[in-house]
Amino acid sequence: MDIEHAIIKSNPFFSSFDDKDYSTLLPHITLVTLKPQEVLFHEGDFSDAFYIVKDGAIRIITINSRGETVFLARVGARGFFGEQAFSPAFSPRRRATAIAQVESTLYRFPRDVLRSLRHRDPRLQLILQKQGVQYIREKLQTLVNNFQQTAFHIEQIMGKIQSFPKRSVLFFQGETAHRAYIVVDGEIELRTYDQEKRIQQQTSIGPGQLFGAEGLSEHGIYLETAITKEDASIISIDSSRYQKVAENHPLLKKLGERFSRQFTFKAKGKILQFRSEYLDMPAITSIISLSDGQEIVCQQIISADMFIASITHVTATHEIKFTRDENYSRTLSLEKNKIIGFSDYGIWQDSHALLDFIIEGVEITEKQIEEFLKTGRILTQTIEKTDEKLVCICMRVPYSIINKLIVSENADFSDIRKRTGAGSVCGGCKPLILEMLGTNAWSPCIVFRVINHTPHIRSFQFRPLNKTIFPFQAGQYLVIKVKIDNVWVQRNYTLTSTSEQPYYEITVKKEPKGLFSSWLFEHAEENLIVYVAGPYGQFTLESTNGMPIVCFMGGIGITPAIAFTRYLANAKKQQRIYIDYSVVLAEQFILMDEFSNMTKKHSTIAMNHRITNISGMLTEQEIKTIILSIDSCHIYLCGPQGLEKLVIDTFNKMNLTSERLHVEQFIHAGSPENLPQTIK
Ligand SMILES: Cc1cc2nc3c(=O)[nH]c(=O)nc-3n(C[C@H](O)[C@H](O)[C@H](O)COP(=O)(O)OP(=O)(O)OC[C@H]3O[C@@H](n4cnc5c(N)ncnc54)[C@H](O)[C@@H]3O)c2cc1C
Ligand code: FES
Repeated sequence: MDIEHAIIKSNPFFSSFDDKDYSTLLPHITLVTLKPQEVLFHEGDFSDAFYIVKDGAIRIITINSRGETVFLARVGARGFFGEQAFSPAFSPRRRATAIAQVESTLYRFPRDVLRSLRHRDPRLQLILQKQGVQYIREKLQTLVNNFQQTAFHIEQIMGKIQSFPKRSVLFFQGETAHRAYIVVDGEIELRTYDQEKRIQQQTSIGPGQLFGAEGLSEHGIYLETAITKEDASIISIDSSRYQKVAENHPLLKKLGERFSRQFTFKAKGKILQFRSEYLDMPAITSIISLSDGQEIVCQQIISADMFIASITHVTATHEIKFTRDENYSRTLSLEKNKIIGFSDYGIWQDSHALLDFIIEGVEITEKQIEEFLKTGRILTQTIEKTDEKLVCICMRVPYSIINKLIVSENADFSDIRKRTGAGSVCGGCKPLILEMLGTNAWSPCIVFRVINHTPHIRSFQFRPLNKTIFPFQAGQYLVIKVKIDNVWVQRNYTLTSTSEQPYYEITVKKEPKGLFSSWLFEHAEENLIVYVAGPYGQFTLESTNGMPIVCFMGGIGITPAIAFTRYLANAKKQQRIYIDYSVVLAEQFILMDEFSNMTKKHSTIAMNHRITNISGMLTEQEIKTIILSIDSCHIYLCGPQGLEKLVIDTFNKMNLTSERLHVEQFIHAGSPENLPQTIK
């Protein structure tokens, strides 16, 4: 074996190559000689080759947001760099500059050859795949070690590796999420579509990155469509394994969240994302190219809890800084009143929200700057900051308590919910808490159609001004906010449209003396602007696994059943649904023609309706008969308190497992006495 062969073979990427592999590669390897201080490539250049240093030394440097040179690494003899050339999914651009420190000679392996070799020879592909897996194992383990969690075995999350040919769709936006994925090799494009099926956002990700996990934990559905851009190897982890590991090892969950947060940018352009290093620490770099030609570069440094973002080619006029202690600070770079960059040290929950400020080019006010200097956060508009003002009316949690948890303990929404109960009853305060965390949860919508069902029940259809209908599941609700007499008022309303429709629809009962519903009935002429947050809620068909559904619905509580039947009928699902719909007076029924058409057209949909003033209330015996006649059914309940109590009591007497009962309460925020009754 000659010296050249020995050097190359000792490289971890080529260690499994045999003589035949080596001779395939050899004709393509060239030698590059550099004089001292000669630049091999600049940061931002196309990343076209992998290098092994034969002799000499290369300095890897970068320029920080203040224009200072930062030394990243020195690569000596037998060292290597540019391993992203093995897969096009890593950065297509150099993320640092390489300069010869002394006269140096390097072996150059062109990116195209490494790629074509891999595609031509399945055995080589397998070796590189194995190397890739090993590389990812090591990287994940490094991340894990950096979090100092020793009991964590990376093996636990490594699921089956599957190969997918170019242009395979792994999942569709809006589909129920069953799996999380880690890219081993290849490039994956995550696309979000608007309601007219136009691509709204594209994100390219590559080896080492976890995706799809946010669907398992937070939303229940995938928020984007995942397509392989080339032949790819992917580790697929099923939902139960992911949940189990994430439960035992919150770190994995955190990692998933950190990766996935990167996809929640509201960028109106393209995002390119790749795993990288920053000052020798594992990082994720995202380059957001906006449609107006601007570019934002973000570095999320995993092990050191740092997030740095800056818009390129704009110079800051000044900086402002908030420091809580040496591990927790934030610096904003401003160009006049626009945020053009920031660096976060410590875990800040709202880094992605600050990024939105850069993307949107929003100017911040003197008041927001004042607030920033005190808390490090840029608050949006609706929170009233009187300390004793209740943020969660249901659980009576004031602003001061939530603010304290955020500022001094860096709590996120789930910590706040766990510690105070805020957000755990009607869910209406969730957007306010998110706002306190720095996220603007609200999007403006314009009402374009009002449908009268009865004098007291109307449907309102509205479109988001940014045209994005967020995917949702049948049974979820929106929080809607309007300004009434100069005060923001918000209420929850179940969505009665389906996720496929190009608008949101809610169906509202005008409550006698009800503040919000009466206002909506009076003012919701076409072109009214309302603000919506969500969709939120667990009252969905998610956990039924296709088993039959029985709905006991009373009065306006029919709205989730409208959503379920429309969804099942439109998606041509075979899941059976039986609805028992009670109203006091015949004129209170809504959408009876539509229900009747659906039951005629779909043998899987059935309905019984009753007018309690004429035929009396539903009885315990009737409830039992219905439940027993539909084998293994799940029971969905939404209606007035009397109906709710009767169904829950009957259910408890029948000794059925609690997972089969799902209850939605249209409670009015601020009525703690309406907390859900205990289900046995
Ligand atoms: C998850 C969820 C989903 C929901 N989905 C729907 C839906 O799909 N459709 C729907 O219509 N509603 C729905 N609601 C209920 C909705 O959020 C509101 O609570 C409802 O519209 C009443 O709001 P309001 O402002 O009109 O009444 P509020 O002003 O909040 O009044 C609440 C109640 O008090 C009574 N009241 C108010 N002032 C007085 C007074 N001075 N004297 C006596 N009584 C008074 C009102 O009549 C009303 O019954 C849902 C609630 C939740 C939690
Ligand atoms: S759960 Fe907070 S207002 Fe209802």
